[in-house]
Amino acid sequence: MTLDLEYSEKGMQHNHLLEIVDLKTYFFTKRGAVKAVDGISFTIDAGDVFGLVGESGCGKSVTALSILRLVPDPPGKIVSGQVIFEGEDLLQKSEEEMRSIRGAKISMIFQDPLTSLDPIVRVGEQIVEAIRTHTNMNPQKAWEKAVKILTEVGIPDAEIRAKQYPFQLSGGMRQRVMIAIALVTEPRLLIADEPTTNLDVTIQAQILTLLKEIKAKTQTSILFITHNLGIVAWLCNKLAVMYAGKIVEYGATKSVFSNPLHPYTTLLLKAVPRLDIKKEMLESIEGDVPDLVNPPSGCRFHPRCPYAKKICSIIQPPMIEVEEGHYASCLIYDKEKWRSV
Ligand SMILES: Nc1ncnc2c1ncn2[C@@H]1O[C@H](COP(=O)(O)OP(=O)(O)OP(=O)(O)O)[C@@H](O)[C@H]1O
Ligand code: SF4
Ligand SMILES: [Mg+2]
Repeated sequence: MTLDLEYSEKGMQHNHLLEIVDLKTYFFTKRGAVKAVDGISFTIDAGDVFGLVGESGCGKSVTALSILRLVPDPPGKIVSGQVIFEGEDLLQKSEEEMRSIRGAKISMIFQDPLTSLDPIVRVGEQIVEAIRTHTNMNPQKAWEKAVKILTEVGIPDAEIRAKQYPFQLSGGMRQRVMIAIALVTEPRLLIADEPTTNLDVTIQAQILTLLKEIKAKTQTSILFITHNLGIVAWLCNKLAVMYAGKIVEYGATKSVFSNPLHPYTTLLLKAVPRLDIKKEMLESIEGDVPDLVNPPSGCRFHPRCPYAKKICSIIQPPMIEVEEGHYASCLIYDKEKWRSV
């Protein structure tokens, strides 16, 4: 059974919050088309904290930008697929409709709050602006709400902090402000793209704890993008592993960690950094991430895979449901083909 079929059938039946179907986003450069996201499918349900993991350059951020239709065009283009959010395909929406969804029903926090916050506007005002863009709340009420949410995301003396500029806050506090802006509209989906990468380990742990608390208190689902499988194990109930523009494994966090199916996932798990140690992940995986203009034929992982056979460079492995709800795209699980060559 292929993943796409399974998803589209289930999508109809279960009303997922977000259903990505065979999404392809390419960048058309002088060198050729960079196939940054090349036919990925996954679903996020209400209440999920969904982890998207993989090495640098595998297409995680482009996936997030595609959901919000923020891929820089040119050179980027969503070439095909569907991004079904609350039953409607966002790829069919007008730009105006998208503006009313961004920052309201779907919010995003980025790795670097300094580039996302306006340096010359007080942080409280930035939250007020987020509120007033999507509601007609009066300025006084919006200000009170801004102070309240700053308190909720753990900023002490929120009344005073609200009147300060981003440069007057520490990196951790700025990230809390970003989270406050993202959450103040009570989104159904929060996309967090490496939100703690630039923070030191203690602050990182505090922000992750805050996200976990938010999860427990609100209905917001989270798409959490990271290199760090340690964080995924702690925070997420489902995950997808991306490699070179494709999803290679997908399932409940428990299943993937207890029984990793794809050779790439197994290697990633061997390289998991501990949360309390600053260590670049993946240093033990040999070889380079492939060029996405001319990716390897067949299974894109074959040049680096310790189990690769000749057939792996010929056939693109389909997604196979190996155990219930746990999928991998590796020919090892296609017994007939695996034995045939
Ligand atoms: N504006 C662009 N023009 C051309 N190629 C791009 C552009 N933006 C991204 N890409 C390419 O798309 C691919 C996927 O990039 P993406 O930023 O999604 O990776 P990532 O998985 O988020 O990596 P990281 O972990 O480093 O953030 C990369 O090969 C990247 O070079
Ligand atoms: S299909 Fe072949 S190369 Fe790809 S992951 Fe499986 S064994 Fe390795
Ligand atoms: Mg990225």
